[in-house]
Amino acid sequence: MLKLKSPADFIGKQGTGVISFGSGQPDLPPPREAFSGIDITRDLRYGLIQGELPLRQALSKEYPRSTPDNFVITNGASEALDLVFRAWGKGKILLPRPYYYSYLPLIQMAGMTPVFTDLVDGRIDIADFKRKVRGCRAVLINSPSNPTGRVESIETLKEIERITQQKGIHVVSDEVYKDLIYERENYPIQGDHVITINSFSKTYCMCGVRVGYLWTSDKKVVEDVCEMKTHTSMNTNLVGQDMALSTMRAPASYIEDQRKIWRERRDFIYKGLLDLGFDLWKPEGAFYVLPKCRNPRKFLTLLYEEYKVITYLGEWFGAPDRIRLSYALDVNKIEEGLGRIRQAMRRVRAV
Ligand SMILES: Cc1ncc(COP(=O)(O)O)c(C=O)c1O
Repeated sequence: MLKLKSPADFIGKQGTGVISFGSGQPDLPPPREAFSGIDITRDLRYGLIQGELPLRQALSKEYPRSTPDNFVITNGASEALDLVFRAWGKGKILLPRPYYYSYLPLIQMAGMTPVFTDLVDGRIDIADFKRKVRGCRAVLINSPSNPTGRVESIETLKEIERITQQKGIHVVSDEVYKDLIYERENYPIQGDHVITINSFSKTYCMCGVRVGYLWTSDKKVVEDVCEMKTHTSMNTNLVGQDMALSTMRAPASYIEDQRKIWRERRDFIYKGLLDLGFDLWKPEGAFYVLPKCRNPRKFLTLLYEEYKVITYLGEWFGAPDRIRLSYALDVNKIEEGLGRIRQAMRRVRAV
C-alpha cells in the first residue's frame, strides 16, 4: 500500500515493466575515465575529513580565484546542504517554492525556519524576493531547478548576488544541474557570502557513488562543516573520490554529448504532455517537468498500481496542484510511459 508521504515510496524501486518518471537519476553511463585510477588498498584507510587533496586541487582549477581550502568534499550534494544548515542551526532561510523535496526537511531538521517566495511562471519574482529576504540569515537558490526545470536569468542571479551582498547574508547556490542547461552557459553566483553546492551525481551519472562538494571562501563555514563532519560521516567515500577525480579527465565532449540527449528527451516529453492537454513550463535545464494535475493523488496511485508508471506528487515539492516527472529515461520508454498516461487519463480526470 502506497503511503505517499515522500519519495521514499519510490526511490530505488525497479521491477519488470515499470516505467519510472520518478527518481532524478541519469540512466546514461559515466565517462570511461571514471573507472581508472581507483587505488582500493589505499582507499581502505580513513581519509581527510575535508576531502582528498588531489580532488580539491582539480576542483580549484574550475572555480576562479580558488584554492583547495575553499572546498569540502561530501557524500553527495545532500550532505553538503545538511552540514551547512546544521552548522547554522537557527535563523530564517528564504527559498523559492516549488523547491527540491529535501530542502524543507533538511532546513527543519537543522532547526532553521523556512521563508518562501513563490515562483511566478516558474521563476523568481525579484520584488517578492526583496520583501521576504528581510530578516533572513541566508537564501537558497537552485538554478536550473528541480522540480521546475527553469533556469533563472543572469540578471536575476546578479540581482540576488547584489541584494544578499549588501545585506551581508549568505547565498547557498545549489548548482547540481549546472552542466545541464539547454539555453546558455551556467552563471555561478559569486562573492564572499556565497556557498556553492555541487555534485558528481548528475553531470557524471554517478548518483550511487555519493560524491558532492561545497565551495566557499568563508573559512568559518569550512571549519564548522568539517567539525560536524568529523563526528558524523567522517571522510567521504575514498573510492568515490578516486572516481570523481578521474571523471574530471573526461573530454568536454562527454558533457556536450549528454546535453544533446537530454535536449531530445526534453523536446519529446514536453510536446507529448502538451498533446495530452497538460499545462506545464518548458524546461530550460535539468531533466524535470512539473505539469498541473487535477487529482494528483488519485492519478498517481492509479498510474502506479494499474499502469506501472512512477511519477512524484507535486505536494512533496511545495506544488500540491502538480505532479513531477523526471525524463531520465530513453525516448522509447518516455513514449511508452506517455501512452500509459493517456490510458489512465480515460479513468481519472487529470487535466
Ligand atoms: C536540486 C538537487 N540538489 C541536491 C540533490 C542531491 O544530489 P546528490 O546525489 O549529490 O546528493 C538533488 C538530487 O536529485 C537535487 O535535485
